[in-house]
Amino acid sequence: MTRVSHTLGVIVTFKGVRRIFDDLLHTEVEVQVGRTSCESLLELAEFAFIRLQDNGFAVQVLPFRLPHHRLTPQGNTASSCKLSAGIHISSDLHDGLTIDSQLAILVHRAAERGAVLEREGIVSMEKKETLGVAVIGLRMGRGHLEGYTQNPHTEIIGVCDPDESLLAQIKATYDAPVAVTDYRELLDHPEIDVVSVASPDYYHAEQCIDAMRAGKDVLCEKPMTWDVEGSKAMVAAVKETGRKFMVGQVCRYAPGFALVKKMVERGEVGELYFVESEYAHTYKHARGVGDWRVDPRREPFLGGGCHAVDLVRWIAGDAIEVSAYANHKCLTDWPVNDCTVAIYKFENNVIGKVMVSIGCTRPYTMRSVFYGTEGTIICDNTSPELQLCSRRNYQLAPSFATFPVEIANHNVAAEIAEFVDCILNDRPVPTNEIQGARTVATALAAAQSAREGRPVQVEKIGEDK
Ligand SMILES: NC(=O)c1ccc[n+]([C@@H]2O[C@H](COP(=O)([O-])OP(=O)(O)OC[C@H]3O[C@@H](n4cnc5c(N)ncnc54)[C@H](O)[C@@H]3O)[C@@H](O)[C@H]2O)c1
Repeated sequence: MTRVSHTLGVIVTFKGVRRIFDDLLHTEVEVQVGRTSCESLLELAEFAFIRLQDNGFAVQVLPFRLPHHRLTPQGNTASSCKLSAGIHISSDLHDGLTIDSQLAILVHRAAERGAVLEREGIVSMEKKETLGVAVIGLRMGRGHLEGYTQNPHTEIIGVCDPDESLLAQIKATYDAPVAVTDYRELLDHPEIDVVSVASPDYYHAEQCIDAMRAGKDVLCEKPMTWDVEGSKAMVAAVKETGRKFMVGQVCRYAPGFALVKKMVERGEVGELYFVESEYAHTYKHARGVGDWRVDPRREPFLGGGCHAVDLVRWIAGDAIEVSAYANHKCLTDWPVNDCTVAIYKFENNVIGKVMVSIGCTRPYTMRSVFYGTEGTIICDNTSPELQLCSRRNYQLAPSFATFPVEIANHNVAAEIAEFVDCILNDRPVPTNEIQGARTVATALAAAQSAREGRPVQVEKIGEDK
């Protein structure tokens, strides 16, 4: 099987083992070579070269002898398979770089993915079953550490927080070999494959981008950033580096909301016409360490409200325009509005409403209602019951049927399980950087509308993935 498309890098599939040799320069080539038997890696590499040449790419064999593979005919199993590679794909994009520097890049990138450099120019790789992880920001980050602890495919290597006493305590609790106060000190560690960024919002863009450029896959807490520019920079960085990236919109992993998504997709409520979600959560005593949340740059409709905005986007699709109103009656010592109501128009002619109150006097809620032509769903991630009224379920008068759901409104463990699976099995991340960036832009458009007293168009960031 040979396929050429405009994806990055070279993928060699051999007896079910998949290795990605990322090319730093983003050669617009993807090759998949599927073989049931192969006498040597040289043969496999030659096979790839020939197919590439057949498809019009300039291919150069590197100026060293390709090693013979170390597999016995019986040993070609996924777990024992060890590939060695010295292949390099060259295209016009590489003009100006010598073969040696391109080789150095290839070796470097492979080493970042856990390859062992055996001798100059020869890389051997083994399938990684366990990912080394590091967490930056250790308060919400503690939830990430718990999620990684529960995951059988991760090992906690690094922790980072400028608060030294918290750092020492977390290092001891999670037995982390590396503990640093500056995240940059984590990035050179070859055992760290994945970085969770759970620092205050203002640091997300810089820390995530640096981590991806250092070859790490990144899970970033919500909101992806506090501004649209930072989100766009992160989208560009994912494209540039080809790393896996997930934004921690954890409500997508709340069992009730996940069931809503399935019910809507199954057509239980027909075609959606109105969706609403309210995020009411008092922040009176949640100012953040050093009061980072009490900052005029931090828009509460994005900060906590991104949960509700992302939820309606996830279920109803992208919003195109918003009109919003805001007031400031509860947290009067904060520099921002504490209640905002936004009315959205979505691409598929759905109307949506999101209410965010961070000064409310009531327990946390994210009560959400989804109205369709054939039914209605009510779901709150703090309730053990989801309610569905569907034409299929009643004879005469409309009535709600209740479905028990687990209350897990901060299901970081499920979020992490999905991300780890995406990395190990090289599948696309559903809650990706495009989703994160569009949620940021959708929330900030509402804040802008409330400020300026006019409808605002929602910018659609990035290409659908
Ligand atoms: N998914 C959720 O529901 C949820 C819930 C709470 C917080 N969060 C997000 O998690 C992030 C952190 O929030 P929090 O509640 O833990 O805040 P917090 O104020 O309670 O803690 C922030 C931690 O980050 C550390 N820190 C400060 N500057 C840092 C830096 N430059 N690098 C590394 N660490 C730094 C602080 O010392 C502190 O330990 C925010 O982005 C927030 O929006 C998400």
